[in-house]
Amino acid sequence: ISLKPYNTFGVEAKAKYFVEAKSENDLVEIFSNELTKTQKLLVLGGGSNMLFTQNFDGLVLKVGIQGIKYTTQGDDVSLTAGGGVVWNDLVNYCVDKGFAGMENLSLIPGTVGASPIQNIGAYGVELKDVFTSCTAFQISSGTIKTFNYQDCKFGYRDSVFKNELKGKYVITSVTFHLSKKANLKTHYGVITAELDERGIESPTIADVSNVVSAIRVSKLPDPKTIGNAGSFFKNPIISQSDFKELLANFPSVVNYPVGENEVKLAAGWLIEQCGFKGIVVGQTGTWKNQALVLVNHGNASGHEVYNFSEQIINTVRAKFGVKLDREVNIL
Ligand code: EPU
Repeated sequence: ISLKPYNTFGVEAKAKYFVEAKSENDLVEIFSNELTKTQKLLVLGGGSNMLFTQNFDGLVLKVGIQGIKYTTQGDDVSLTAGGGVVWNDLVNYCVDKGFAGMENLSLIPGTVGASPIQNIGAYGVELKDVFTSCTAFQISSGTIKTFNYQDCKFGYRDSVFKNELKGKYVITSVTFHLSKKANLKTHYGVITAELDERGIESPTIADVSNVVSAIRVSKLPDPKTIGNAGSFFKNPIISQSDFKELLANFPSVVNYPVGENEVKLAAGWLIEQCGFKGIVVGQTGTWKNQALVLVNHGNASGHEVYNFSEQIINTVRAKFGVKLDREVNIL
């Protein structure tokens, strides 16, 4: 089966077997099957953070568990969504109901089940800020376990599911804490500017969601027309002492302090400074409005995109002495 429809980069790759789980019972059934036990496994959500550089000689499992339910107590909302719910559908659902908390995360591609794995984030909010717990199917035991906030060990685009528990669980649902009393986070410069532009003085949840969506549309390519997986690299975090050195050579380096001892750099800036913004290399390249996003101009192979990303890493390292790490999963 072709995986092209199942990855937002839109690259061609084949999987030996493919199955979709629509319920926890489906998972139990799939994993009690003898064939499953002999196969390598790849769990896919929306395929929006994945680059296939080769065919997959095993079983691809798509999580399609649907459903949203919630309870309220005063202003507090506790909401649970199935792992297969499309992330932005959930955001829209919450915005419509007036449940605040995830409006800054509007228009992020992918599914609810994938959201804790890399602790998705944008415009000053991360998944962890609204996360209560998740349930996950443990492949080895065939049972469902609950992970609370602490268990997940969230970090910047990181969690326990990307590290020690990688490949061991399938996230089946996520529970969020939201509020009917909006505590909107509009401190990000681009959000403030866009609200001003629209003449909005006291924004609603929907206003913030609309503004964030508009900013994303203007900066990021729509995977429906131009294949991509959002930011291809993480923003690198370096020590204060390395940063001092860098600043001496590149006084305009874009940076954000992280605690007392570290500094986060804008990978997009580093890449742009290397002359890579908007360049086209064969069928791949970087996006014209955001150098951190690698794109497929039509018929790129995963290999081609990967090789180009190597070139970026090497060039940035040579110029700035900074190592970029990929945010996208490579297979
Ligand atoms: N910049 C450039 N040139 C570029 C791109 C960026 O100079 O081509 C500089 C600018 O100074 C800009 C700054 O970098 O002000 C930051 O850029 P932007 O606001 O676009 O955010 P980012 O750091 O590139 C991160 C996330 C995005 C998220 C935005 C907004 C990561 C790896 N990426 O990007 O998340 O939407 O912030 O909060 O942390 C994703 O993870 O897939 C993703 C899209």
